[in-house]
Amino acid sequence: MRDVPRTWLVTGVAGFIGSHLLETLLGLGQRVVGLDNYATGHRHNLDDVQAAVGAEAWSRFTMIEGDIRRFDDCRAACAGVDLVLHQAALGSVPRSLADPITTNEVNISGFLNLLVAARDAQVQRFVYAASSSTYGDHPGLPKVEHAIGNPLSPYAVTKYVNELYAAVFARSYGLQSIGLRYFNVFGPRQDPEGAYAAVVPRWAAAMLRGDAVQINGDGQTSRDFCFVANAVQANLLAATTSNPQALDQVYNVAVGDQTTLNELHALLGEQLAAEQPALQIAAPEYRDFRAGDVRHSRADIGKARERLGYAPTHDIRAGMGVVAAWYSARRPRSA
Ligand SMILES: NC(=O)c1ccc[n+]([C@@H]2O[C@H](COP(=O)([O-])OP(=O)(O)OC[C@H]3O[C@@H](n4cnc5c(N)ncnc54)[C@H](O)[C@@H]3O)[C@@H](O)[C@H]2O)c1
Repeated sequence: MRDVPRTWLVTGVAGFIGSHLLETLLGLGQRVVGLDNYATGHRHNLDDVQAAVGAEAWSRFTMIEGDIRRFDDCRAACAGVDLVLHQAALGSVPRSLADPITTNEVNISGFLNLLVAARDAQVQRFVYAASSSTYGDHPGLPKVEHAIGNPLSPYAVTKYVNELYAAVFARSYGLQSIGLRYFNVFGPRQDPEGAYAAVVPRWAAAMLRGDAVQINGDGQTSRDFCFVANAVQANLLAATTSNPQALDQVYNVAVGDQTTLNELHALLGEQLAAEQPALQIAAPEYRDFRAGDVRHSRADIGKARERLGYAPTHDIRAGMGVVAAWYSARRPRSA
């Protein structure tokens, strides 16, 4: 990649995963165009990347403040781009249950706008954020890409429709695409604020305040928590693979482990306490199960290993150590 720098479009660049893609790409000497409307992303994420990569790398970044619901913004963002990493979407199952219309507009119409703009700009490849929510109510464990169930939320519908559109654009227009079904990605810069915050940053923030965290259900709900560096690796492999069998496919992006919410609580509490020895971790409070949630999730990552050469570098413990240090450094010391 360093030998032949290319121009990448990262949508959702001010968000959690997008900002990590930006940081890695700039660090590898690439040119990056970013597109974001700051709906759930933040300028301070871009400031963090700028500080991390330095002035020369930052000069290779062009930011477009725009909305994927507007085709003109997508067309402007795709101009002169070689590779697209499409991350912009409204995440969160509960948000989609509260506001399915906006979720649909962004995640489906916005996705289609970007797909058309990428096709028209003749980009080499379109890599996009799919989701483990597409497994829906399928009981099989581990999750294998070809066996999906019924969606359990509007969000899951939108992410599945993305896969359908990408497949149709490959068949109809020859647009190369790869979908990455992320499983509970976590890491620095994931937003702890707001009603729709993901579990790891929400709990980290609560624990650092000394508050009890709230667990939906009995705590035996399980997930395959995936550190963000693994997701970045999967994106770069998907965008650059020369294996013809890798194209026009979807892949699980995870670690292949299963961690219950009770185990997550213990692990995060332990890692935060290692950062701040005076911190008192309160016992969790249990409340009702949440609508739309899948009960158990664990990925089979064999397909990504075989076709993309994906090899996760961080298991949950290693990733949680990084996260604990990061959130801890951003909160007042409790002692
Ligand atoms: N984090 C996870 O565990 C996870 C799991 C599965 C899938 N995903 C998917 O990965 C992608 C990135 O998620 P994330 O966790 O970084 O979330 P995020 O909310 O931090 O990032 C999404 C970014 O998209 C931007 N955006 C939203 N609507 C937009 C619009 N209309 N126009 C332009 N930009 C818009 C937001 O401002 C934000 O910066 C999303 O597509 C999400 O659905 C994430």
